[in-house]
Amino acid sequence: MCGIIGYTGNNEAAERIIYGLKKLEYRGYDSAGIAVADSGKIKRVRSAGKLENLVKKLKGGSIPGTTGIGHTRWATHGKPSDENAHPHTDCTGMITLIHNGIIENYYEIREELKKKGHKFSSETDTEVFAHLIEEKISMGIEKAVADALKRIRGMYAMVILYSKEPGKIIAARQGSPLVLGIGKGENYIASDVPSFLKFTDKALFLEDGDVAVVTKEKVSVTNGGKNVQRAVRDIKWTAKQAEKAGYPHFMLKEINEEPQSFEDTILGRFDELKGRIEFESVDDKKLAKIERIKIVACGTSYHAAYAAKYLVEKYSGVSVEVEVASEIRYANPVVDKKTLLVAVSQSGETIDTIEAFKNLKTKAGYSLAIVNVVGSTLSRMLDGVIYTHAGPEIGVAATKTFISQLAVLYLFALHMGKIKGVLKAKDVRRGIRNLRKVPGLIRLILKDREKIAKIAGKYKKNRDFLYYGRNINYPMALEGALKLKEISYIHAEGYAAGEMKHGPIALVDDKVPNVFIAPQGKVYEKLISNIQEIKARSGTIIAVTNKSNKEMKKFAEDVIYIPDIDEDYYPLLAAIPMQLLAYYIGVKKGIDVDKPRNLAKSVTVE
Ligand code: AGP
Repeated sequence: MCGIIGYTGNNEAAERIIYGLKKLEYRGYDSAGIAVADSGKIKRVRSAGKLENLVKKLKGGSIPGTTGIGHTRWATHGKPSDENAHPHTDCTGMITLIHNGIIENYYEIREELKKKGHKFSSETDTEVFAHLIEEKISMGIEKAVADALKRIRGMYAMVILYSKEPGKIIAARQGSPLVLGIGKGENYIASDVPSFLKFTDKALFLEDGDVAVVTKEKVSVTNGGKNVQRAVRDIKWTAKQAEKAGYPHFMLKEINEEPQSFEDTILGRFDELKGRIEFESVDDKKLAKIERIKIVACGTSYHAAYAAKYLVEKYSGVSVEVEVASEIRYANPVVDKKTLLVAVSQSGETIDTIEAFKNLKTKAGYSLAIVNVVGSTLSRMLDGVIYTHAGPEIGVAATKTFISQLAVLYLFALHMGKIKGVLKAKDVRRGIRNLRKVPGLIRLILKDREKIAKIAGKYKKNRDFLYYGRNINYPMALEGALKLKEISYIHAEGYAAGEMKHGPIALVDDKVPNVFIAPQGKVYEKLISNIQEIKARSGTIIAVTNKSNKEMKKFAEDVIYIPDIDEDYYPLLAAIPMQLLAYYIGVKKGIDVDKPRNLAKSVTVE
């Protein structure tokens, strides 16, 4: 949460920073601010609300200088206001900094500093850090920062300017992401790569405990006071991929990229003739010894993991538990050397998932991360990593990365099935054939998206929705409901349809649409019974079913058709109308679907 960008070089820092903040706005958009060092002074401009407010404030007034820092905020301590917007300063205005994370002991430090005469001008936890540095500034800025870091508990990504050393940015990381962009005669420090990708594709990811000193010519990193070398990686994403390309929203662009993301994720990972799956950095010998799997994730990634449970158990006979990361972190899960732990995360920076793995990793026989962002914390933390190759996802709602996670998890289920001797080469071949069909079939659904837009128009005023699915389509019901909540602010719940009579049927009336994911297959008749039970009580049905199902229109007010495929593969298609329905309802309600209120793309505070 929160986007940080720092720049030092020969260009106007403000320009580069505003450009970077535009790319980072998906991380938080409660307020924004910028500070630039020039001629021994630091000029700071801040504004509540979205970045455009800051840009308006800057118009006309120049903010010269070639070293600076900027921030787009997702509020933790203190409401979104000009005063609480970052950057924050000490009493003298010479130390100016930005922080992403939470300083847990800020209150006690603040009270202590107040007694020493420090004056605070915001409600944030961040401001204490500037004052802590001020206390020890006579030691020099670097030593003062090191000293202040010893006083705080919690999580941070920090960037600091000091007016007496105007060409320098000091950065520190503990728990929240920070990546350096290494340019020619200029360097960047940011929360995420797209903020500087137009200018350099060389990235250096900081580790927890790292402190970096960044000037235009040089970057040095220490950890625990000792110099450390961190690898500089080439980023394969292009800056163009992170643009809207003519679409009204990133979300729609990203949904339309799903066929490509899916293809990019599966290609090169199978040998169809031999019926074999191959993952680049996975140790198959370790997988062969596994008797249990625990998959840990949050939000949409959790729903992808939940779908995988059905498949992996069916294809390999290995028992799979799926856990919400924030819950398992404080529970006492049974993990042993026969257990494979899998993290699923788009960003690779979700704090709940990272923290859960810190405790569990060493207990497990083997651990894998399924991650989209190359070089992210989770991708470096576990024994193996499988990248989802979806490209950058800017819309706050996960769409194409969900489809790519499913792609990896389907491949993984087939692979596990083969390793465990449950699936034969011919079974895997059939699975691969199905997966290869998926991008083309998603394209067909996308072609017909206007029909979904029309249905969205009909239901945009409803205040509650229920989503139902059974078996492997149940997680798609959960995901459909989550997407609708996030993007349209409509209350929605996802249920296993078999649970309907255990409670939610009490909600049936003419005001709550019931979305059924009901392609034909082994549980289809059960779903039809559920639909009939709702109809008998005058409820409204929106059904997602397969194209060759001719009877559904008898039962449902609205039917969304997806192409026919082997039944295990329907989630890969059913997910698309779920996303489109939420998207169009959100847009028709006038919501900024790329930046829905209160959300941030990656949740880096607990
Ligand atoms: C998805 O639309 C959400 N914004 C959210 O639930 C997200 O999936 C969750 O925070 C997990 O993020 P991650 O995949 O980056 O770990």
